[in-house]
Amino acid sequence: MEEGRASRTAIATAYFRAHHDKHANPKIFEDPLAGSLLHADDVAPLERFLLAGVEKHNPELAASGADRETRIGLALRGLVVVLARARFTEERLEDAMRDGTAQYVIIGAGLDTFALRRSDLRGRLRVIEIDHPATQAFKRGRIRDAGLELPPNLHFAPADLEKESLAEVLPRTPYDPSRPAFFSWLGVTMYLTEEAIRATLRSLRRTAVPGSQLVFDYLDRAVFDPGNPSPARARLFEIVRRVGEPMIFGFDPSALDAELAEEGFRLLEDLGPEAQKDLYYGNRTDGLQPTAAARLARAAVA
Ligand SMILES: C[S@@+](CC[C@H](N)C(=O)[O-])C[C@H]1O[C@@H](n2cnc3c(N)ncnc32)[C@H](O)[C@@H]1O
Repeated sequence: MEEGRASRTAIATAYFRAHHDKHANPKIFEDPLAGSLLHADDVAPLERFLLAGVEKHNPELAASGADRETRIGLALRGLVVVLARARFTEERLEDAMRDGTAQYVIIGAGLDTFALRRSDLRGRLRVIEIDHPATQAFKRGRIRDAGLELPPNLHFAPADLEKESLAEVLPRTPYDPSRPAFFSWLGVTMYLTEEAIRATLRSLRRTAVPGSQLVFDYLDRAVFDPGNPSPARARLFEIVRRVGEPMIFGFDPSALDAELAEEGFRLLEDLGPEAQKDLYYGNRTDGLQPTAAARLARAAVA
């Protein structure tokens, strides 16, 4: 991330949720508040960039007279895991709540609107958002600008997780280490070193009671194999590198179980693109497909 600046990828993923909510049917994920956190000057350069990408890489579509929103929707396709991971997380969180979980920790929350959207859960769920101080300050400003009420069950914990561990940050919040918690870690693992990922897992393990759960998305390590090129992926990697948030890490799905076990977790689910397709992409006529190589995992503290 660029020093002192809100995460550009967090703004981009919020934009995608907002665009999908407004223009897609059926919806993989509904986020009617995402758009209210964005200003015109966040949206305009992103849209210019996406439309220029369509001109360059899909000139037939650009020339076909397809409307602007269709062209933007096409440019966003490679990122559709942003929607699937949010849906997966919120569904699994509801399951955990039925089993008694009453605290939800969002690691690297970005412009996630869960707590703002789900005012119905105020009395039943404590939500703790941990994010880089620059991104979190930006988000708080945007919530104010949008005139949205801060729900009393939402607690912000600004922290640079490269400098502090979860076990250091959580005691500053109303997190209760004696009770099971649900953690999400969405859109983050691909930006970290293996060392930082292991440190986060260890730290979470130290601070969460057995039965607590963690949901995260990750890239299949094979995407970093130079013998496995994809022009669309190469473009995505180049874009995130240019905004100062390069994607550098993937797990090997066949070793995930063992790697998590080493850190004290039990893998409960690991959904590849086919499984995501069955769950979230039925009844579509727009050709939206799961992001190749992006996987959704859920693990429990053993
Ligand atoms: C790609 S965004 C994902 C945001 C959100 N979870 C989503 O799915 O849209 C990555 C998030 O990780 C956060 N992040 C990156 N580096 C961080 C660090 N060193 N400490 C804390 N948060 C960090 C960014 O601020 C950003 O919110």
